[in-house]
Amino acid sequence: MEDKLYLPYNTIHKTVKKMAREIVDSGYDPDLIVAIGTGGFVPARILKTFLALPILTVGIKYYDDNNNPMDAPRKIQWIDEVEKKLEGKKILLVDEVDDSRVTLEYCLQELLRHRPSEIAIAVLHNKNKEKRGTIPPEVSRYYCGEQLEDRWIVYPWDAEDIEAHDSAASIPIS
Ligand code: G4P
Ligand code: MG
Repeated sequence: MEDKLYLPYNTIHKTVKKMAREIVDSGYDPDLIVAIGTGGFVPARILKTFLALPILTVGIKYYDDNNNPMDAPRKIQWIDEVEKKLEGKKILLVDEVDDSRVTLEYCLQELLRHRPSEIAIAVLHNKNKEKRGTIPPEVSRYYCGEQLEDRWIVYPWDAEDIEAHDSAASIPIS
């Protein structure tokens, strides 16, 4: 039995479009997107098609080269000189998946230090599971494309053979 969930680009695109509509309908009007790399890059770019916002990016690493979680997330790349661009701004923080929530919490705490007027989270997928990280109380808006059970999601941008990926995606999972 295949226990991984393969998602094709078309599905991702539709999930982002639905989420963009939810963000607009909720009345949240962000000034900019902050994308968490690397999983948040493609979702953020698709969101830009619907929301027409500038994208800043941050690189955070939580797993080491052997795929084991480290003590805490670490910055690979941060916003540096443009940090001051965050003060007083409404941020939409974008990532592909809310899994343990550890990276997300770390990133939210770091961004809050730069005193944005508001931060909202937008993730393609939230896994229904016990979370080790917590969302700070300052963050009240949370947009999620799909709620999923706790299993490994295979994203199309990780595929080496996109045709094989799409074939795996089209096989119904029992
Ligand atoms: P969270 O705060 O957003 O819940 O992230 P967490 O620290 O739990 O996740 C650590 C890494 O594991 C992240 O990648 C995340 O993208 C990845 N991850 C978690 N669940 C899945 C899954 O089901 N499928 C895939 N493909 N990845 C998953 P990262 O170390 O930040 O690197 P990157 O892959 O984003 O570059
Ligand atoms: Mg990620």
